[in-house]
Amino acid sequence: MKNITIILFGATGDLSKRKIIPALYRFIAHKKLENFIIVGAAFEEVTAEQMINAAQPFVEKGDEAIWQTLRSNSFYKKINFTADADYKSLNNFVQECERKQGIAGNRLFYLATSASFFCPITHNSAQAGLLQRKEEKDPIWHRIVYEKPFGHDLKSAREINECIKNTINETQVYRIDHYLTKEVVSNIAMIRFTNCVLEPLWSNRYIDQVQIVLSESVGMEGRGAYYDAYGALRDVVQNHMLEMLALICMESPEKLTGDYIRAERVKVLEKVRFIDGILGQYNGYLSEKSVSENSRTDTYASLKLAVETPRWKGVPFYLKTGKKLDKKETVIHIKFKQVDCLLMRGCPTDSNWLTLQIAPEAIFSLTLNAKIVGSTDQVEPVKMEFCHSCVQGVQTPEAYEVLLEEVMRGEQSISVRFDEIEYAWKVIDDIESRQLPVYSYAQGSTGPQEEQQFDDKHGMRWRT
Ligand code: BG6
Repeated sequence: MKNITIILFGATGDLSKRKIIPALYRFIAHKKLENFIIVGAAFEEVTAEQMINAAQPFVEKGDEAIWQTLRSNSFYKKINFTADADYKSLNNFVQECERKQGIAGNRLFYLATSASFFCPITHNSAQAGLLQRKEEKDPIWHRIVYEKPFGHDLKSAREINECIKNTINETQVYRIDHYLTKEVVSNIAMIRFTNCVLEPLWSNRYIDQVQIVLSESVGMEGRGAYYDAYGALRDVVQNHMLEMLALICMESPEKLTGDYIRAERVKVLEKVRFIDGILGQYNGYLSEKSVSENSRTDTYASLKLAVETPRWKGVPFYLKTGKKLDKKETVIHIKFKQVDCLLMRGCPTDSNWLTLQIAPEAIFSLTLNAKIVGSTDQVEPVKMEFCHSCVQGVQTPEAYEVLLEEVMRGEQSISVRFDEIEYAWKVIDDIESRQLPVYSYAQGSTGPQEEQQFDDKHGMRWRT
């Protein structure tokens, strides 16, 4: 990857220093990026050096020579995102920096800002000539990355999409979801479509239910103001969890790349229906910094969804997420149907489960039933497991590193298409309109006590 200008809007923010600049650091360390400049743009009055230094605590055992490379290729311009006049001077500034460093052409715009600035930044950058409409065949590319959340509901997402469409082509747009770049998530389609022992079973004929869990032990981490306006449904269900569901349910794409995958994910999201759910809020949430005193914002959600396609008709999809729970774990459990028991004694106690664990470790496992050693016909579940980090020499790259690399390569499967994002918001708008009860729960617990009644009502048990 070379000859690139990275224009980082929101360069002084949390995301830039925690994720984006460290990802660029690792690119340089792995010699993946040459001949580049970073132009930071934000409201604050800082220097380019300060912008880079702010990321240093987020890289373990950093190498000073790499930091120095980053510093000497970085520039910073203070701008007001909504002042169109500022974009003319930003454009001149970028051109001047490019000229100085001998970079001509490719531009990656990264909007690490609130969604309310997506339209003003896109529109004003285009008006000033900084961002240009480009066709896929053009030798020079201009690509723009929008961080999640993309809007606050269907209406706002549609407005941003409309603004983008009037300015640039969809092939230049990356509405990103960092979950799509996680090793196990990007492996979902591979595991399914490349294994004859799974693909024929992948439907309501053999799958009993699917559970998707995104459990977090952390709380607000200084993001109270943002979170209070969004809540769990908008923060992680609308994007990460529904995207995982779409990958599990999609039909086979013509090719396992770019728009082929997106086109299939869209068809799933269009058919997702809300069946039932409960919400929760952890005790102590109301005393978090920048959270309003009577807030009813959900920090926990447990949902039953359906996917109304012939393949998935009748299969329940259970989704559970929460902050300040007992553990950090992201996992997908796929439960297969029980076999007819032909044995006289010792019938299988459990069905087969395929588990895709995304965090804390990248692991996938399959539970089969096998005879207990020595006994005649007693059966027990045995687990076959593949753990990425256990394979010597294999290092799972960090999600943001993969993400930036895919954008620079022009691979759009990691980006959420305009209609995909709209269908996902439609699901959330529907859930929000139901005014579900919000139960309290203790920090460090598995969620509200009412979860038990919910599980009983649906005859389900969360796999642990
Ligand atoms: C982000 C949410 O998108 O995903 C956070 O805004 C959440 O609230 C995070 O903590 C979870 O991502 P990961 O990669 O830590 O599982």
